Amino acid sequence: MPKSLALATRPAPIAELSMPIPAEIHPDSLLALPPGEAKQSLLTVHSILDARLPAGPLAIYEAGGGSTSYLPLGVLRRAHVTVVDIDPDQIRNNSYAQEAILGDIQTYRPPQRFDLIICYNVIEHIPDVDAVLRRFCEALKPNGLLLIGAPNPKSLSGIVTKYSPHWFHVWFYRHVRGEKNAGLPGEAPFPTHFHPLVSLDKLEAFVAGRGLQVIYRKKYESPRYPEMRRRKPLLAAIIDAAAKAMNAVLPGKIDVRHGDYHVILRKLG
Ligand SMILES: C[S@@+](CC[C@H](N)C(=O)[O-])C[C@H]1O[C@@H](n2cnc3c(N)ncnc32)[C@H](O)[C@@H]1O
Repeated sequence: MPKSLALATRPAPIAELSMPIPAEIHPDSLLALPPGEAKQSLLTVHSILDARLPAGPLAIYEAGGGSTSYLPLGVLRRAHVTVVDIDPDQIRNNSYAQEAILGDIQTYRPPQRFDLIICYNVIEHIPDVDAVLRRFCEALKPNGLLLIGAPNPKSLSGIVTKYSPHWFHVWFYRHVRGEKNAGLPGEAPFPTHFHPLVSLDKLEAFVAGRGLQVIYRKKYESPRYPEMRRRKPLLAAIIDAAAKAMNAVLPGKIDVRHGDYHVILRKLG
């Protein structure tokens, strides 16, 4: 283990692993999403993971993990999860990983291979996404899956997030989203970098040359829109009208509200 990494190992929940798995119970992350395209896409991601991951115990690497998992509970309950995060508060907040490692996913080389790597709402915060993706390719078992959830830099929210200062993100989380603790240690939003490989097309081209095949990709309306329509209807109406006008003048079938994406990649066997 590199010297800079502190390792905290938690006992595996053996009693839980041996209990029957209630198939239809979803994680809080999914239940907390407002109805809409984001929730629908996450449900599709869950059904693909349920169908494509091998039966039995699973080795999962979560690169950048907070307090809530985005994985289906049926997968989580038969998994040994290793989480790596650079923020000690986030490591403390994480309650579902069996192994919690304080470290940098740009340099961390796991000592084993994984059935699934998940990196959710993280790559936009990373200066060297190139290094992270190369490490992920190395760390997957043959036929292993990589799930990435990230903002779409070519969307309205992506452009605003990329070019606005961090204090504005904190203000938005506090006053529009109503997250009172936003910006406090261990609490979102985290500073963003938006490396060029956060763009889905570029990311796919990069990993295609390293033996990963796309099995699911979906750009979808950011959950911030339905959230805003409920919490701040006037602001939402103005932004919706602006988005509609942009969609009308932009070439092709672009929807600037498609602020986020999911992609699932499979390592060729
Ligand atoms: C927006 S949070 C997402 C957390 C979690 N995946 C989720 O969706 O709730 C971004 C996370 O990436 C972590 N992070 C940022 N840069 C990192 C790095 N270089 N190595 C490891 N973790 C990093 C942050 O500490 C934070 O926990």
